[in-house]
Amino acid sequence: MNTASGQVTRALLQSRRIVVFSGAGMSAESGIGTFRNAPDSHWSRFDPRELASPDGWRANPQRVWAWYESRRAEVLAAQPNGGHFAIAQLASALHARTGREVQVDVVTQNVDNLHERAGSTGVVHLHGSLFAPRCFACARPGAFADGVPDRKATEVEPPSCGHCGGRIRPGVVWFGEAMPQAEFRLAEDLVDACDAMLVIGTSGVVFPAAELPINAHHLGKFVAEINPTPSNLVQYMRVQWPTSAAQGLPELLQLLKA
Ligand code: APR
Repeated sequence: MNTASGQVTRALLQSRRIVVFSGAGMSAESGIGTFRNAPDSHWSRFDPRELASPDGWRANPQRVWAWYESRRAEVLAAQPNGGHFAIAQLASALHARTGREVQVDVVTQNVDNLHERAGSTGVVHLHGSLFAPRCFACARPGAFADGVPDRKATEVEPPSCGHCGGRIRPGVVWFGEAMPQAEFRLAEDLVDACDAMLVIGTSGVVFPAAELPINAHHLGKFVAEINPTPSNLVQYMRVQWPTSAAQGLPELLQLLKA
């Protein structure tokens, strides 16, 4: 069976350690917007310098806070899709089929919590989280205002820091900011130790996150992407499986169980 799904199935059946590397496309079928490559994607409609940079925050914190709160509202109203659930069941399916302990590690660029809500644990968030606000001034963890965030508001005053009175900012990594080093180093170690890597729903244009699949390729790992459209990383892929996260991953789980 030399199909994309067949090649991926065979590679996973021979693997003890698997890294799942996900991007915005992973959550697209849960109704969460992507950033590029679609008419309604965020950066087709908004300027990332205004909404996803420290300068944009300084210029208009009310607008930036409102935008991230609308995204948090979107995630709270969403559900994990079949792809998220399939990933959470991958290790047990492989164990049942091979009798071997298989470790599946999830490394994501996504700031939503859908991997966790589907049952994945120890998810490594490279670009932060919508659920980890902190003070812009003293960096201490902050708290959201009570109640459900407003999906429609265009300007919302951010909460104040209980320690220094500074403004609470979204806990995401903005353009021009460094990635959390502990998470990136952990992700690098997981890639070094893996046998196979699944790259799901990322355009692969944002660095240094995109270095991870490239490094995996250069380390001789089996690297495959699940993406309806070949990404910027396709030349590093052993297999490009032109399907969606919520279609392909449940199909893969069935093939592993068969
Ligand atoms: N299933 C799988 N892949 C999909 C699906 C789907 N249902 N829908 C879209 N895709 C693919 C697109 O073809 C595209 O290649 O997902 C990718 C989404 O790319 P981006 O929107 O660029 O998202 P991502 O790669 O995660 O962006 C990286 O950029 O703006 C920053 O910090 C933000 O983490 C983000 C980073």
